[in-house]
This record gives sequence, structure tokens and C-alpha cells, in this order.
Amino acid sequence: MSNLELFDDEWARREQLAPGAMLLRGFALPHEVELLAALPELIARAPFRHMPTPGGRRMSVAMSNCGRYGWVSDRQGYRYASAAPLSGQPWPAMPAVFRRLAVAAAASAGFPGFEPDACLINRYLPGARMGLHQDKDERDLAAPIVSVSLGLPAVFLFGGLRRGDRPARILLEHGDALVWGGPARLCYHGVAPVKKGQHPRLGEQRINLTFRKAR
Ligand code: SIN
Ligand code: FE2
Repeated sequence: MSNLELFDDEWARREQLAPGAMLLRGFALPHEVELLAALPELIARAPFRHMPTPGGRRMSVAMSNCGRYGWVSDRQGYRYASAAPLSGQPWPAMPAVFRRLAVAAAASAGFPGFEPDACLINRYLPGARMGLHQDKDERDLAAPIVSVSLGLPAVFLFGGLRRGDRPARILLEHGDALVWGGPARLCYHGVAPVKKGQHPRLGEQRINLTFRKAR
């Protein structure tokens, strides 16, 4: 089977949130078994960690990365690094199924030729949240951000180009992919506190993968 067939997206429910921002509901579902199977080894090699913010607070979201670069935060600021800060080890390679999914989601949303070199793996336990921010640590803002949600649902806050723009509240569920790029690339976004619950496959957690072209 070709990648095109494997990632046929005709059945995915598409919703344009703004010019350049496309929600592909259920896009990852055909690949959930493979995606979930790849996670334990990634996390064993680069364990989840609550990174400190530049201001010295502890993030409620625990993070890991795979791919050539990983997003890290510490007292010096935010940046991409080719090794995990505590271990000094390179991040585990991005599994092929991750890469193919991200490339296909980007293409389906109007961004062909996406070449992710970083995948941030976020783990939200109930109560964890992410404040409104822009993704702007990437060198090449022509490439979109591709986000894949797994496990417990969460309300995603999708705002405008100004911090003060009132964000839309979008429920992201297991298997949903969200792509933002082009005129939406620098839209503010965040995640409301995740509610308690049990997901049949992932238990009491939400996992979000965001694929980026960091360099
Ligand atoms: C992020 O903005 O990096 C994560 C978004 C999410 O967890 O859905
Ligand atoms: Fe982000």
C-alpha cells in the first residue's frame, strides 16, 4: 500500500477554524494501535519531565520529545536541543508512523512537503493545563504545526494573532489532528485544565504530540 492509501483522509471530518487552521477529527484513529505501541519505548528512553519555566515555575504538563530536536525549557528560556537536558542523551528517533501521520495531516490541511524534525510529547494528567502562547521558537515559520491528541479529551483554546483575542474553545478528542500554519501559524493557543476521566486505551491521561520543523 502506498502512503497515500494508508493515510486516506476522505472520511476524516474536517473543520476549518481560521484561514490556515484545520481540524481533522479522527485523522489518527486508523493508526492508534501503532501510535500507542510506539510510546512506551520512547518514554522509557526519554522519561516525561515537568520542566521549569524561565520564571522558575514547574509546568503542570510533563514533556518528552522524539526526533532530531526536542523542545526544552529552563531558567535560560525556551529552545530546541538535540539532547535531553538531564541525561545528555540524544532524543529517540521519530517513529516512522509518527512522521507519516504528521506529513499526511499537514498535506491534507494544505501544507504539502512538511518535514518535521521535532515531536514534542506532552502528557496531561487531570488538572494539567497549558497557558495561551505562540509557537515561535522554530526557525522556519513557513512550516505548520501539526498536533495529534490521544487519550482523555481536552478543551483547546485557539485564539488569534494578539494575546488579547478571545480564543475559541474546541474539544479535542482521541485521534483528532489539528494543523495550523500560514496565516494562522502564530495564533495564540493553549489547553484548559484537563478533566478527570478514564480513557479506554490510555487511562487517566491525555497525550498530545506536536510535530514541528524546528531548524
Ligand atoms: C502545545 O501547544 O504545545 C500543546 C498543545 C496541546 O497539548 O494540545
Ligand atoms: Fe504550542
